[in-house]
Amino acid sequence: MTRNIPKSKQKTSMIKEQTAMYTPSIQPVEKYNEEVYAKGYIFACTNKTERECFEHMIFSSNKLYAENVLRIAKGDLLFLFNIDKDQLCGLFKAKSEGKKNIIPEAWEGKYPYQVEVEKVGEIKIIKNAKKNLSQMGINWGRILNKGKLDLLLNYIQNPEKFDWNSVKKEISADEEEQPRLESTTLWDHPKQSYGKTPKGNNRYPGVTPAFIIYNMIKRYTEPGDLVVDPMAGSGTTLDVCKEEGRKCICYEISPTRPDIIQNDARNIPLSDNSVDMIFIDSPYGDNIRYNDHPDNIGKISSESEKFYDELEKVMKECYRILRPGKVLGWLIGDQWVKKKFTPVGLKVYERLCKYFEPVDIICVVRRGQTSNTPLWHNRALRFNFFLRGFKYLLIVRKQEQESKEPLKREVKWTQYERIKK
Ligand SMILES: C[S@@+](CC[C@H](N)C(=O)[O-])C[C@H]1O[C@@H](n2cnc3c(N)ncnc32)[C@H](O)[C@@H]1O
Repeated sequence: MTRNIPKSKQKTSMIKEQTAMYTPSIQPVEKYNEEVYAKGYIFACTNKTERECFEHMIFSSNKLYAENVLRIAKGDLLFLFNIDKDQLCGLFKAKSEGKKNIIPEAWEGKYPYQVEVEKVGEIKIIKNAKKNLSQMGINWGRILNKGKLDLLLNYIQNPEKFDWNSVKKEISADEEEQPRLESTTLWDHPKQSYGKTPKGNNRYPGVTPAFIIYNMIKRYTEPGDLVVDPMAGSGTTLDVCKEEGRKCICYEISPTRPDIIQNDARNIPLSDNSVDMIFIDSPYGDNIRYNDHPDNIGKISSESEKFYDELEKVMKECYRILRPGKVLGWLIGDQWVKKKFTPVGLKVYERLCKYFEPVDIICVVRRGQTSNTPLWHNRALRFNFFLRGFKYLLIVRKQEQESKEPLKREVKWTQYERIKK
């Protein structure tokens, strides 16, 4: 059948044939050309939420996966993964684009990012889905590119005859497109950037690891929200926000590119209560020479109180522009210089807590340090000091509103009984 078709077109025509097997009477095969179903998506559900998926013929997700759901186009191919049963079922087709609140009251409003779906042919089920998907390098909640979608279509059609060698090729071709969503307070990522386009400039001194900003905006904002970075350096925040569909304004004392506005972070030209999230990776003292601008706070030593006084002016501005209930993430590291340790992170946290309420503290593993050499490791052991191994990501929130009465909290701790011998 593929004898007269050029090699590049053979893959497409093979998929058409596979799809045809699922769609004997629904769609003419020609409809599934490359543009119509260039991508796929796996929604997740539990035993509790599955019923509503089929009742409404709507698949849905919470805000963590919002921008991926919003990327779903009419005609994309969809699957539903029941986490409790560990089963993936398909095939479905998007009947609408991904949208917010097609049925606002469904799932009690907990999963507002939704898409209307319809069945494509006879529904098939993949058992042990978690293991099988992981072996194919496929994650639910992420857009499946054409290569991954091909794998899944091949597998679901005939698991016994599935060619596992095709997986290796696909995984190596697919560079990590989105970082992992972190669920603990220890964050570690091997690279400064991810995906096909650069995020910030990894040659900029003190550039922020992009996955930190990615995790912050996923947790604390929704698509379309406004994020501000008052000390933007090479613009990592701008690039991450752009890709994730967030509005973003970046300021910097000495801008490195035209889409960053020149401004001193101690005086931000935005109105009160107008911003949905702020991310700052401030100087940690005078350890890095960013630029020679006279108002660069990175020229002040973190051993002096002046450094914290100037950062406190930035905090006050952040507090003013942030909407009540919204979050600020501040990345900061400690200093050990010439036999003196300065707990910069804790000192900054103390100042932050004068204005904001604490949300959490994340320990971010430091990678690519210039001191990460055998010589410095040896010195650290010989002269009895520690090399910096982590930074703090301090997460704080602007209070929703003054509450007159103290919160009543009843905590039920899990009781562990000692086993009596
Ligand atoms: C750690 S870097 C930020 C890195 C940035 N997030 C990135 O990924 O490239 C800190 C930045 O704060 C800037 N800065 C220092 N003082 C400032 C001030 N008063 N107002 C605005 N930016 C300032 C420095 O120029 C430097 O670029």
